[in-house]
Amino acid sequence: MKRLITIRNVEEGGDTDDALKNLNLNLSSDLEKKNNTTTLPLMRLMGFFLVSFMLFSVLFSLSVVLRDPPSDAVLEASPTLTTTVFQQQGVNNISSDSVEKPIDKLIGGLLIDGFDERSCLSRYQSANYHKGLSPKPSSYLVSRLRKYEALHKQCGPYTEAYNKTVKELRSGQFSKSSPCKYVVWISFSGLGNRILTLASTFLYALLTDRVLLVDPGVDMVDLFCEPFPEVSWFLPPDFPLKSQFHGFNQKSEQCYGKMLKNNSVASSTLPPSFLYLHLVHDYDDEDKLFFCDEQQNFLKKVPWLLIKTDNYFTPSLFLMPSFEQELKDLFPNKETIFHFLGRYLLHPTNNVWGLVVRYYESYLANANERVGIQIRVFDTDPGPFQHVLDQILACTLKENLLPDVNREDDIVSPSETPKSKAVLMTSLNAGYFEKVRDMYWEYPTVTGEVVGIYQPSHEGHQQSEKQIHNQKAWAEMYLLSLSDVLVTSSWSTFGYVAQGLGGLKPWILYKPENRTAPNPPCRRAMSMEPCFHAPPFYDCRAKRGIDTGELVPHVRHCEDMSWGLKLVDRDNFD
Ligand SMILES: *[C@@H]1O[C@H](CO)[C@@H](O)[C@H](O)[C@H]1NC(C)=O
Ligand SMILES: *[C@@H]1O[C@H](CO)[C@@H](O)[C@H](O)[C@H]1NC(C)=O
Ligand SMILES: *[C@@H]1O[C@H](CO)[C@@H](O)[C@H](O)[C@H]1NC(C)=O
Ligand SMILES: *[C@@H]1O[C@H](CO)[C@@H](O)[C@H](O)[C@H]1NC(C)=O
Repeated sequence: MKRLITIRNVEEGGDTDDALKNLNLNLSSDLEKKNNTTTLPLMRLMGFFLVSFMLFSVLFSLSVVLRDPPSDAVLEASPTLTTTVFQQQGVNNISSDSVEKPIDKLIGGLLIDGFDERSCLSRYQSANYHKGLSPKPSSYLVSRLRKYEALHKQCGPYTEAYNKTVKELRSGQFSKSSPCKYVVWISFSGLGNRILTLASTFLYALLTDRVLLVDPGVDMVDLFCEPFPEVSWFLPPDFPLKSQFHGFNQKSEQCYGKMLKNNSVASSTLPPSFLYLHLVHDYDDEDKLFFCDEQQNFLKKVPWLLIKTDNYFTPSLFLMPSFEQELKDLFPNKETIFHFLGRYLLHPTNNVWGLVVRYYESYLANANERVGIQIRVFDTDPGPFQHVLDQILACTLKENLLPDVNREDDIVSPSETPKSKAVLMTSLNAGYFEKVRDMYWEYPTVTGEVVGIYQPSHEGHQQSEKQIHNQKAWAEMYLLSLSDVLVTSSWSTFGYVAQGLGGLKPWILYKPENRTAPNPPCRRAMSMEPCFHAPPFYDCRAKRGIDTGELVPHVRHCEDMSWGLKLVDRDNFD
């Protein structure tokens, strides 16, 4: 019997690092659409997993039922803990390997109880798959999130306060007494970038007591659950300025940078009812004044701020004196901003969550260790390239993330229960995955470990706005975040999202120059924070250029982009 499953190709997409276009790299246009299909003898494998799985579940439920209830102390100390079962190990050692431990479904108080679980399964189930947050979020952050939720409930779409402010926006007049001010996030750029900018914009909303409203764009509703209780975060379709979103740019009349250029801010006595903030990688010196306290003082008075950005601009907020104390209180650990805000805000919809869970349970759950390898090649050719493969292997072998193979000696030394590693690779191209998979099929490992290589999709090129494509891309980022160790590519927002959600400090593959594998091939990241690719280099007080990567110990230049900025914790310096 020969049954084959054809796997549709999906690319590692949504990862348009638009900032790169700025660098005259002109890459994406040349990437040709390829229509590879790969066939895999999957049926048998899946059958095996299914049977093992069912067996495991049955035995497992028994073991849970028969087990002692968790101690009262645990339950009393934290009434929100639910006891869930953690299945770390595989099917071989059921009774002893299935560790029962309390899962904190509210992840350190970041989430609140009371949402309808079925409407968004990932919200409370993700704790079963991710490692817990480490370190824990500060109690101040938790209390600020609760305060934000109350504000959102008061001011969100179609509340009385919202209706009033929208009416004022229509009329162009507004009363100073309105309790609600807004920041509208305009859906813009690839999925990886959008995830990073949502987190930065939410942080800006927290810092300025604004309500975050999200332009649903083409596919946001299909990708993300509602993060706030009761009142939606999506901007209603009848929002008055909606038809203008697409056209907003640096030349727009309402663009704040443009107004500063024209001196129309200083001359006007009344602040406008809304402003457009252009924080896209191609922004200019006046647009960048957004990151100066003086301008923030003016922006405070404007009820509606509309932001278009493709960058994780958080690091520059940490350089502004007016936000310094608040940020210190919210985030005693500087490198956990995206980790906490991402886990708080970004819950995959049930469709996406199904993709995550089914893949995880089928290929990754039973391994002793999970290794994520995220490959993004910035080249005009689609590849695959030998130098990239060489670099991946050089990095993973040198850093002991994967075992070497024995090419001379074909004798299999059977070990009783070999340790297993599951490697999840993501790439637009299937070539690297096939080569690595074949290597571990054709030769035994020197350690006797069993290495399985998996790649969910390979769509050949990026398709930023295709729905199922972005659902799969989001699922892949999430799956990577469930790794125990992670290898990422330089400059890729896809990798930043995975490392941040997973709380992982990845090994970063240096960007190859001149189609040559760099030596050393990779380095460990200083922190799990994403890199801000287009930061301003300006000293607001002195009104002159300055290296903003040298001002404070916790804002440094990135490992993968010498002019980028990222947050690090002080004690992580080598
Ligand atoms: C199962 O695990 C226990 C403790 O971890 C170990 O003592 C035992 O040998 C294992 N059994 C098998 C069949 O691997
Ligand atoms: C706000 O306006 C919408 C229609 O635009 C209406 O359906 C809703 O009831 C209003 N909300 C309140 C609290 O009046
Ligand atoms: C900018 O300045 C020019 C010349 O002073 C003026 O004609 C124009 O209306 C101004 N634009 C805005 C948006 O204020
Ligand atoms: C890149 O490679 C070409 C040909 O191999 C060589 O002539 C050139 O000097 C190299 N450039 C750099 C920056 O190494």
